[in-house]
Amino acid sequence: MSPAEYLDSQKEQRLADYFDFLRFKSVSAQSKHTPDLRDCATWVKDHLTNIGMTAEICETDGHPVVYAERIVSDDLPTVLIYGHYDVQPPEPLDLWKSGPFEPVMLDDVIYARGATDDKGQVFAHFKALEAHIQASGELPLNVKFMIEGEEEVSSANLPKFIESNLDKLKADIVVVSDGSQFAPGKPAVTYGLRGIVFIEVKVTGPDRDVHSGSFGGAIENPINALCEIIAGLKDENHHITVDGYYDDVDPVTDLEKESWKKLAVDEKEYAKGLGLPEVVGEKGFTTLERTWRRPTLDINGITGGYQGEGAKTIIPSWATCKITMRMVPSQDPSKVSAAVVKKIKELAPKGVTVEVFEREATPAVETPTDGPWLEAAGRALKTGFGVDPLCMKEGGSIPVVGVFKELLGLNTLLLGFGQHDDNAHSPNEKYRYEDFEGGCRTAVALLDELSKVKS
Ligand code: BES
Ligand code: MN
Ligand code: MN
Repeated sequence: MSPAEYLDSQKEQRLADYFDFLRFKSVSAQSKHTPDLRDCATWVKDHLTNIGMTAEICETDGHPVVYAERIVSDDLPTVLIYGHYDVQPPEPLDLWKSGPFEPVMLDDVIYARGATDDKGQVFAHFKALEAHIQASGELPLNVKFMIEGEEEVSSANLPKFIESNLDKLKADIVVVSDGSQFAPGKPAVTYGLRGIVFIEVKVTGPDRDVHSGSFGGAIENPINALCEIIAGLKDENHHITVDGYYDDVDPVTDLEKESWKKLAVDEKEYAKGLGLPEVVGEKGFTTLERTWRRPTLDINGITGGYQGEGAKTIIPSWATCKITMRMVPSQDPSKVSAAVVKKIKELAPKGVTVEVFEREATPAVETPTDGPWLEAAGRALKTGFGVDPLCMKEGGSIPVVGVFKELLGLNTLLLGFGQHDDNAHSPNEKYRYEDFEGGCRTAVALLDELSKVKS
């Protein structure tokens, strides 16, 4: 039996194991789930051990990393496969059609938090390994796994883990499946991710909530003040008004314009798929340019005042918001972060205190668009999905990808198996069964293809 045939023979068991993985409430952002993250890490470690790897749980200052390896021979290439077992918070719960941690398959679509991001995708690589070992008795190359539990909260402890394990993590190439195809039936190799900068703003007014009749008009309202600040960060063309914000942004090249035009995004369909009347963004750019190649500034959450039932007439004591900015190559996240802090302070109205907290920052990454590793990945995607893959960028961020380059000198193959409308980070996250299977087939073929690359 070939590894591909073994894979095919295990469909039911494979789906059952995947569902077990999905049942863990491994929400890294919420401290109440700390034990669930550890349980999930233990499940990953045990699963990898059962399929024939030497696996261990590695402690960090945050949620643990699972490391596993199977070294066949020093003469063979070594692939380091990265993924994350943590997931985003499932809230708002009332919008889910089935429980976020009770996976179900309906009309060939699997629903659960983490279905696509990233459990379903990293799991394809677990099962590819099992298929090779079961069918051939051995792997065609050396495989190392590093599966972390803090990707969704910026991977703050991972650089230190990598730095302390440089020898252990030595490899020839990294593989990450934690993204999307271009569209259904259009698999792709991704060659670039945007970076990200986080900022939080707190506006403080009166030292307690006060009556809006007695005091309204006489004092600044922290929520109004915050809204004024936010509104001042962009102009009517969706251009960010911060001085120097675009200084280091390379213009979109003619080659990029040409090749992305061929990818023909139907903006009407795009808007419809999101329940929107139309798409809107920075003037002068297409949707792909806006998401792959331009920096952004978005409010992720805003809090303050009374949000309960009925009326409560107050001037609130404070208001806060969370801001993220997506970075493109050549932008220095800390420089951008500092410029935005300065602008927010300038925009701050009188009569309130404005504090700005700079959080994590990750630069954008670009990976090679040619070479033997990429060609091998392309062939694997073709085997898995039946068609030649496209080359694309992504608007999202995976902080560790830049760290692999910096600390290990390694390039990463970004092979996403999901879809953009899989509802990652949204209610009713899903993964098409077709993509689940295609991803597993790709992962099986990938091990063969990578084993033949001479570096
Ligand atoms: N899998 C995503 C990254 C991603 C998103 C890749 C969209 C391709 C397309 C990852 O889990 C993620 O959500 N990353 C965060 C990183 C942040 C918390 C530092 C992101 O992009 O917001
Ligand atoms: Mn992910
Ligand atoms: Mn994510």
